[in-house]
Amino acid sequence: MIGLIVAYTKNRVIGNKGQIPWRIKGEQRRFKELTTGNVVIMGRRSYDEIGRPLPNRFTIVVSKTAHYEAENCVTMPSLSEAIAYAEENRPGENIYLSGGAGIYKEGLPLADKLFITEIDLEIEGDTLFPEFDKSLYTRTVDEEVDGEIPYKYVTYTKKPAKAARKNCSTKK
Ligand SMILES: NC(=O)c1ccc[n+]([C@@H]2O[C@H](COP(=O)([O-])OP(=O)(O)OC[C@H]3O[C@@H](n4cnc5c(N)ncnc54)[C@H](OP(=O)(O)O)[C@@H]3O)[C@@H](O)[C@H]2O)c1
Repeated sequence: MIGLIVAYTKNRVIGNKGQIPWRIKGEQRRFKELTTGNVVIMGRRSYDEIGRPLPNRFTIVVSKTAHYEAENCVTMPSLSEAIAYAEENRPGENIYLSGGAGIYKEGLPLADKLFITEIDLEIEGDTLFPEFDKSLYTRTVDEEVDGEIPYKYVTYTKKPAKAARKNCSTKK
C-alpha cells in the first residue's frame, strides 16, 4: 500500500519557514502509529527539519543535492526511485509519502490512501498541500479530537477506476 500522510489547516497550510506552524500535543499520534515498522519517504527539507532518521521505521530522503546514509535511512534522487527502492528492499512494508509539498504533488496520483489530519485552524504559511480532486476518493472521519485547536483524523480512499467499457456493438 502506498499511503500519503499529512496534517493541514483549513487553508491547506502544511508548513512555514521550514517548520510546522502549530504545536498540538498528541496530534502526531496517528503518524507514529501508521508509519512505525514501515517506510517513510520525505523531501530533503522535511528531513532537515527532523534532523535524524525516525526510530523504528525506514526513512528514504528524496534529494538531488544531499546524501544521507545511516542505519534505516537512505537517499534517492527522485520519488520514483525512492518507491522502487522501498518495494525492492522493504517487501511487505507500507510506504508513506510524508511531505513536503513537492513529494505530495508528485505522490498524490500514486497513493492508494490519503491519511489526513484536518487541523481546525486558519494560519499563515509558505508551504501548502496541493489541491486535489476529492471526487476520486471516499472520505471517512476516523476520529475527532476536541481541544484548544480541534483536529480530525480523516482517510481518503481512492475509488476503484471504472472498468473499461466493453465493446458493446450489437450483433444483427
Ligand atoms: N504538515 C505536515 O504534515 C508536513 C509534512 C512534511 C513537511 N511539512 C512542512 O513542509 C515544509 C517542507 O516542505 P517543502 O515542500 O518546503 O520541502 P521538502 O519537500 O521537504 O524538500 C524539498 C527538497 O526535497 C527534494 N525533493 C522534493 N521533491 C522532490 C522530487 N520529486 N524529486 C527530487 N527531489 C525532490 C529536493 O531536494 P534537493 O534540493 O536536495 O534536491 C527539494 O529541494 C516544512 O515547513 C515542513 O515543516 C509539513
